[in-house]
Amino acid sequence: LKLIDQRRLPASLELVSLSEVKEVSEAIRQMVVRGAPAIGATAGFGLAIAAAQSEASTREKLIGELDSAAALLRAARPTAANLEWALERIMHIARDFRGDVADLRGLVLKAAQDLADQDVETNQRMARFGASLIEDGDTIIHHCNTGALAAVDWGTALGAIRMAHEQGKRVHVLVDETRPRLQGARLTAWELERLGIPYEIITDGMAGYFLRKGEAQKVMFGADRIAANGDVVNKIGTYMLALAARESRVPAYAVAPTSTVDLSLAQGSEAPIEERDPSEVLGIQIAGEAAAPLRARARNPAFDVTPHRLLAGIVTEKGLVRPPFRENLARTSAG
Ligand code: MRU
Repeated sequence: LKLIDQRRLPASLELVSLSEVKEVSEAIRQMVVRGAPAIGATAGFGLAIAAAQSEASTREKLIGELDSAAALLRAARPTAANLEWALERIMHIARDFRGDVADLRGLVLKAAQDLADQDVETNQRMARFGASLIEDGDTIIHHCNTGALAAVDWGTALGAIRMAHEQGKRVHVLVDETRPRLQGARLTAWELERLGIPYEIITDGMAGYFLRKGEAQKVMFGADRIAANGDVVNKIGTYMLALAARESRVPAYAVAPTSTVDLSLAQGSEAPIEERDPSEVLGIQIAGEAAAPLRARARNPAFDVTPHRLLAGIVTEKGLVRPPFRENLARTSAG
């Protein structure tokens, strides 16, 4: 499996090659690859690698090994619903299969490839719905990275912005840098640069300033998990951005495929929130010196919950979901 090493961007575009399921799980944990749909698709190929390398001589033994591989991959990062969704989908196909063990290996690879191919289609459909919300001349505040790097191709919120740009609408993006890992400054800016879409990077704390001044007409971000009531779990900082948008009466939209919707959660506060190493917060240097005292402690929740009442809508591949989210999300997820 070859992945772009997102930790190296924007300085260099490098690929890493992985050939063991343990390496795939570690690549997800260390954020070589990140973004909810991208880690789902990657985990699918992790299962394909586990199947290809297995020496199991019976179907039952191979399923047992795939279950262990799925548990390893699932444990890599807890918050994005797409990770467990992808694993569950492929395991379901594998468990239902009645042929011999060699064919099962091929089937797992095919299922992983199908899932990745479908992600592109899903994203393009979602991008068209998202683009219909964007007007010519809009400035959009965007959080984290939700582009092609975060999916198999195209992306979620950034996909909608890209679609609007390709439709000939003039768009300008204010890119939240997205502390602490700077997915906005490093990855979103890199993608926008390549796409030729005008942008400026702002620090996360500046968003309220621009919203209040009337310099942004939309706020758009992705989602890692969406609860049944429409609460959106997304990159840390999304909640404050949505609050500021509401105060300035600027519509905030989450853009995410239905594979991100977790109807088993009544509300966002039930979602597992990943706490990452505080060194991600403390590691920043100014002029070559640590920005915080040597013994400083820090907290590092990687995601927060934006209550559904702060959202103007949720854009999915099946259309735009408006409030009341509980009824409309259930209907949309069911197709
Ligand atoms: O910690 P990350 O970089 O994996 O978090 C990613 C995000 O929060 C994205 O905004 C999210 O996955 C939704 S869009 C693909």
